[in-house]
Amino acid sequence: MEGGEYRIRRFDPSEDLSSVVRLNRVFLPENYPSYFFVENHRRCPEGFLVAEAADGSIVGYIMCRVETKFTDDITLRVGHVLSVAVDRAHRRRGIGRGLMLEAERNLVEERGVDLMYLEVRVSNTPAISLYRKIGYEILGVIPMYYADGEDAYLMYKPTSRSATPDRIRRALGSRVRQVN
Ligand SMILES: CC(C)(COP(=O)(O)OP(=O)(O)OC[C@H]1O[C@@H](n2cnc3c(N)ncnc32)[C@H](O)[C@@H]1OP(=O)(O)O)[C@@H](O)C(=O)NCCC(=O)NCCS
Repeated sequence: MEGGEYRIRRFDPSEDLSSVVRLNRVFLPENYPSYFFVENHRRCPEGFLVAEAADGSIVGYIMCRVETKFTDDITLRVGHVLSVAVDRAHRRRGIGRGLMLEAERNLVEERGVDLMYLEVRVSNTPAISLYRKIGYEILGVIPMYYADGEDAYLMYKPTSRSATPDRIRRALGSRVRQVN
């Protein structure tokens, strides 16, 4: 996304770490130490992006990692969205969508990812709406996933023909209870 107001670019640990740690602390209940961000960036720079406003401030980020999941017949490469947030003052302008889609594109093109997935609080309507809008579906519920006891939805989006419904269920289904 490069539309005048915001620019989405790769995370640079020497420039952006403190801004990303701050956004994570202020806007998400799940907080991580600095080294977690640094280590994820080292392993998966393609999936770690920031949104920069015109004044140079960092107003959003996404951090993903690549995992390997075994199915009966093949191994799937899977992109896992670990954390995404946009500063409250900059929401509903397409930044979250831009971060999600650009990270997905990078992971597909540069890491050969077959499938994207994430966990989201069942009460997090804004995030669930965003994920649905860009093609994610709910696989099921992970009971008591969060430290405060709230359940998560596990949501996924196939990004290659290898990610058939049967393989997706074998790769990710053991963690979830079906929703009706
Ligand atoms: C979820 C979050 C990242 C969305 O960021 P954003 O930049 O506001 O999202 P976008 O502007 O790209 O929204 C894209 C679409 O998602 C949906 N959406 C986003 N926020 C919504 C809301 N509050 N209510 C309903 N739908 C919403 C809409 O369909 C929206 O399209 P529209 O604005 O054209 O209607 C942001 O709300 C956030 O940082 N929340 C706190 C952190 C968090 O919950 N992260 C996810 C944890 S799993």
